[in-house]
Amino acid sequence: MKRQTLIAATAVTMGLAVAAMAQDSPTRADQIVEYRQAMYTVIGANFSQLGAVVQGKAPYDAQDFAQRADRVAYVAAMLPEGFVAESRTGKPTGAKPGLWTDRAEFDRLLKDMQLKVRTLATTAKSAASVADVKSAFGAAGQACKSCHDKFRED
Ligand code: HEC
Repeated sequence: MKRQTLIAATAVTMGLAVAAMAQDSPTRADQIVEYRQAMYTVIGANFSQLGAVVQGKAPYDAQDFAQRADRVAYVAAMLPEGFVAESRTGKPTGAKPGLWTDRAEFDRLLKDMQLKVRTLATTAKSAASVADVKSAFGAAGQACKSCHDKFRED
């Protein structure tokens, strides 16, 4: 490619890139919202599989169960990063505005859930049958619900 053509092509490409960024560049707040929703997607996908096992709709595989419980606990520990105050101005989300005015209660429910899913993960490691994980799973599920009832849009 001739030098002039190359420069022209580069300029066009850069122009397009800048235009694309200006058009729908997510704000930092939007990115944080997407980040936390992605964390919930991972938590939800793994947790619902555990639920299927506990309800007898899927076979119990001790290793798989323990691994999924571990994933839930691991990602749950990261959730606070998705709820920093900066994310408040992000795109519309399933988080109720009350979350920001009743932050202490939200944080309490989040901590409680982190504790319950950690207990579930620990219990699952030494479990021999689905009966051994049932109550820890129930407690974790209740912790999800307690917060959703208060702070998540239906
Ligand atoms: C302390 C509060 C709290 C707890 C505890 C909690 N959640 Fe949520 N959850 C939320 C909020 C708030 C949203 C909405 C997030 C948003 O859209 O910004 C949400 C959204 C979700 C979503 C939808 C994600 C999306 O892409 O919109 C799933 C799935 C989910 N939670 C699963 C769970 C599971 C499973 C648990 C328990 C293991 C749990 N949550 C525990 C507050 C909580």
